[in-house]
Amino acid sequence: MEFPKFGFAKRLLVLYSITFILVLLVTDWTLSHFLQKRDLQELQRSLTRQSVLIRELAIPLLGDHKRLQKEIKTIAAGTDVRVTIVDPEGAVLADSSENLEQLSKMENHALRPEVAAALKKEAGMSIRYSMTLETRMLYIAVPILERVKVLGVVRTAMPITRVDEILASVRRPIMFTALLGILIVLMAGMFFSNHLTKRIRRITSVAERYAREDWSEKILMDGRDELKMLADTMNQMAATLRSRIKDLESEKGKISVILNHMNEGVIAVDRHKQIVIMNPMAEKIFGYLASDIHGKSLIEVTRHPQIERIVDHAFKEQKTTSEEIQISGEIRKTLRLSVVILKEHARDIQGILVFHDMTELRRLENVRKEFVTHVSHELRTPLTAIKGFVETLLGGAFKDPPAGERFLKIIAEETDRLGRLVEDILTIGEIEQKIDFMKKDRIDLASELSFVLEQFKGRVEKNKLIVENRIPGKPLLVPGDKDKVHQVFVNLFDNAIKFNKPEGKIVLSADQKPEGITITVEDTGIGIPEGTQGRIFERFFRVDKARSKELGGTGLGLAIVKHIMEAHDGHASCQSTPGQGSRFSVFFPA
Ligand SMILES: Nc1ncnc2c1ncn2[C@@H]1O[C@H](COP(=O)(O)OP(=O)(O)OP(=O)(O)O)[C@@H](O)[C@H]1O
Ligand SMILES: [Mg+2]
Repeated sequence: MEFPKFGFAKRLLVLYSITFILVLLVTDWTLSHFLQKRDLQELQRSLTRQSVLIRELAIPLLGDHKRLQKEIKTIAAGTDVRVTIVDPEGAVLADSSENLEQLSKMENHALRPEVAAALKKEAGMSIRYSMTLETRMLYIAVPILERVKVLGVVRTAMPITRVDEILASVRRPIMFTALLGILIVLMAGMFFSNHLTKRIRRITSVAERYAREDWSEKILMDGRDELKMLADTMNQMAATLRSRIKDLESEKGKISVILNHMNEGVIAVDRHKQIVIMNPMAEKIFGYLASDIHGKSLIEVTRHPQIERIVDHAFKEQKTTSEEIQISGEIRKTLRLSVVILKEHARDIQGILVFHDMTELRRLENVRKEFVTHVSHELRTPLTAIKGFVETLLGGAFKDPPAGERFLKIIAEETDRLGRLVEDILTIGEIEQKIDFMKKDRIDLASELSFVLEQFKGRVEKNKLIVENRIPGKPLLVPGDKDKVHQVFVNLFDNAIKFNKPEGKIVLSADQKPEGITITVEDTGIGIPEGTQGRIFERFFRVDKARSKELGGTGLGLAIVKHIMEAHDGHASCQSTPGQGSRFSVFFPA
């Protein structure tokens, strides 16, 4: 900041000087007025006294003009007093500043104010400019009385320049003292104003730093005056402000940490539906950067008229509203939008929009619904068959033993199927619940596989299959659930036998890497058509339903494999060439 050249201290100085000069002038005027008045009074008194004396002297000479003129001239000689004697009509009888011959030419004096007053037996006094003497004069007139009769007037006059002279001589030292005073005042004022300005600038420059939120400096001020008090108060204020700002910032920091890490999208809008705040999740949902939202309206950012309608409704009703909406983008999303209306406390924010992603929940709900439909359908088929054959038997078929035995066999098979189905469903349910406890033991995949091979030995021989075991003889250790891993291998092996060709081959191999172990079960079976390879891990999915059923399958085997592998943080995959064979791999992380 630039400081003004003509600061307040200098202004004060000028003001003081002007006041000082004014006071001086007034004092000078008052003093001269007073002196003039006093001097005039003095003069007046003295002239009056002289007039009275002259009157006494003039009375006996009134009849003798010549002597009177001579006497008057003698009295006034050597003084600057002019004496004039006037008769009752105003004609001049004698005058100390005129000659006898001139007297008759002189003007009548009856109208001169002092003479006029004296003729009325009053004391006459007048100050005026005398043309004759070319100076300001004081005139005093006293009447010459004989009892009550006015015989004439004695008038004395004196120039009053003397008063002015006295005044001039008094004024000189006064002026000198005044000038000296002004000089001292100016110098002292200059020193004081510099000192004051310096201190004020110190306060201002620190205050300026405070305005820029730079709290590094304190105002250091000496003295014990108001400026020191101001500096102390400002230091105190800065300390309070600093801690208040710190608190606010940490509060703001906490809020932004919460907003940034929320799983929900949050948008705050003002009463004109202009966006005030938007968190990173909301940025992701609407593909808009929070840094670009300044001055943007809700519709501009969301481009979703339904959101706008919900917000309008909430604003109108002044109550929290919640509704499910669909967002179409790269991935279609289902969101639950809750609009919270703020009634008080928030000046800029009128409503908070919270977007909760329901996509996964809805998808799971659908999966579950489909699963239930599937399960009921799968359960109904064997049940219908059992019910049908039981009714046939009750209808009299049991009387025909060969047929009855056949029917009972079918019933037994269907009951087995039902049992397997229920078991598989239970297994899936169990995996879903145990998902966090899968990696509890250290298991050896190599010995697990040889155990499964041992189990299937009978079926392998029956189908005349050749099993090639390329698993190395050393242990393959991974964390996992022994029973569940066993089930994975059983299911894969079961498929490799079931969908193999007669006299086909099954190859078992392992690939050990630092990140984990991959076990592969390869067969030379019927393979899986390309279009359905992606779906075989789905629940109840079978390429050839009739054939699989015939082989006693439920279509849950691979779904169980996939579930178990995911619960181990691993995965299952499949490659297949229709007509040539399939290759199933499962990966166990180390
Ligand atoms: N090795 C394989 N060769 C060819 N097709 C296979 C193979 N493994 C699985 N499939 C196909 O994938 C489908 C799903 O297999 P999955 O193991 O889930 O069910 P399933 O074997 O029919 O019944 P379950 O395993 O319950 O007895 C099978 O019906 C079959 O069509
Ligand atoms: Mg199977």
